[in-house]
Amino acid sequence: MRVLFVCLGNICRSPLAEAAFRHETTLAGLEVDVDSAGTGGWHVGNPPDARAQAMALAKGIDISDLRARQVSTADFDAFSHIFAMDHQNMRDLRAIAPSGGRAELQLLLDLVPGREGEAVADPYYGGEEGFAQTWEDVSAAARVLARRLA
Ligand code: 4NP
Repeated sequence: MRVLFVCLGNICRSPLAEAAFRHETTLAGLEVDVDSAGTGGWHVGNPPDARAQAMALAKGIDISDLRARQVSTADFDAFSHIFAMDHQNMRDLRAIAPSGGRAELQLLLDLVPGREGEAVADPYYGGEEGFAQTWEDVSAAARVLARRLA
């Protein structure tokens, strides 16, 4: 299983999803390839947003070494599962998805019972509390996914 988390910039939500899922798989002793990417290219090469780094660090996870990259058509073959943070990410991913790619594409919160169809809200233009909400959302999904794999 190879899992890719995708948001718009790859500096806020998807790096936190990557960190939360890696944390859960480590706790569960699972071997899974995990990565994240953005549909947009504005932040390529940049570390996660300082507020996202602070959020992860508050949970004991250092994400300062992550670097943003843009999702590519090759990702649809390289990964078995691609999770989008919101509906626009889903539309953008569907628009570039090659026919016959192996990756299964799904909205991240579809994993969480009772939150199917919901988006992980974009915290970029808001305050710190938005990042706490992002962490809660991506952690809930990460726990479900890790439990499913275990
Ligand atoms: P992300 O957040 O998609 O969760 O990484 C954003 C990061 C950057 C921008 C928008 C959202 N931006 O417009 O630059």
